[in-house]
Amino acid sequence: MPAEIIDGTAIAEEVHRETAARVTALKARGIQPAVTFVRVGEDPASRAYVSRKHKKAEELGIRSDTIVLDEKTPEAELLALIARLNADPAIHGILIQAPLPSHIREQTVFATVAPHKDVDGFHPVNVGKLLLGDDSGFRPCTPAGVHHLMIRSGVETRGAEVAIVGRGNIVGKPMAAILLQKAPHCDATITLLHSRSRDIPAHTRRADILIAALGKAHFVTADMVKPGACVIDVGVNRVADPASPRGYRLTGDVDFEKVRAVAGKITPNPGGVGPMTIAMLMANTARAAAMAHP
Ligand code: GUN
Repeated sequence: MPAEIIDGTAIAEEVHRETAARVTALKARGIQPAVTFVRVGEDPASRAYVSRKHKKAEELGIRSDTIVLDEKTPEAELLALIARLNADPAIHGILIQAPLPSHIREQTVFATVAPHKDVDGFHPVNVGKLLLGDDSGFRPCTPAGVHHLMIRSGVETRGAEVAIVGRGNIVGKPMAAILLQKAPHCDATITLLHSRSRDIPAHTRRADILIAALGKAHFVTADMVKPGACVIDVGVNRVADPASPRGYRLTGDVDFEKVRAVAGKITPNPGGVGPMTIAMLMANTARAAAMAHP
């Protein structure tokens, strides 16, 4: 029997309904939740992501502004802009879209956003709180979204073997930090795999939960998956597709059709993790607004 599909679009809609209710309650208290997105340059993927986030915020009643800076903007100018946004009490959430041009130090930028407005969860204070199991910070949206997908689709993590492929700061590392916590829906045994790992399939074949976040189209093949495992596909990869008007299509890190025949549960891609990232961002923004007005 093919794997059950984890419907990220439907679960994200559930989260959005909860966020919309929270926004309504804030507005009833005279608080207008607001988020500002900053994009530097015209990377087409970043344009698409930011415009999707902006649209969803507006749908939920969150005020959303997008500031676009030229590709050649000096780092100091971006840092000065962030300082102004930090100081503006009407703005609750700030998101600086990555990747940034190579002359700008990403970690310096993320560390300049005030931790209480860091709805991306990338500030060192929020990263540290996550590792320590302190729930008062913000969690990065993609791994938080994956966690919610698992919780809301009944995936047992306690004592489970979890293999995460990819050790990036945005997904792999924080994903490991979430699932290893001594807490409900966590308590997993984590194997964090990366480009220097020896014999990746030997590890993934042991996994009850396999999370692919390395950014290589169809890297995870059926022979790498334990029968009945839960497979989560975080990857967003462009592959050439002459049949598409754009000349490419987006696909994940998992060879979906073949893996589906072996797995117990699987996320489609698109329609799995992607919508959850936006849902977590909106939830973080509503929470930032609530925290600003206790
Ligand atoms: N680029 C890819 N994913 C993300 C994300 O979650 N936040 C930001 N700011 N940039 C990204």
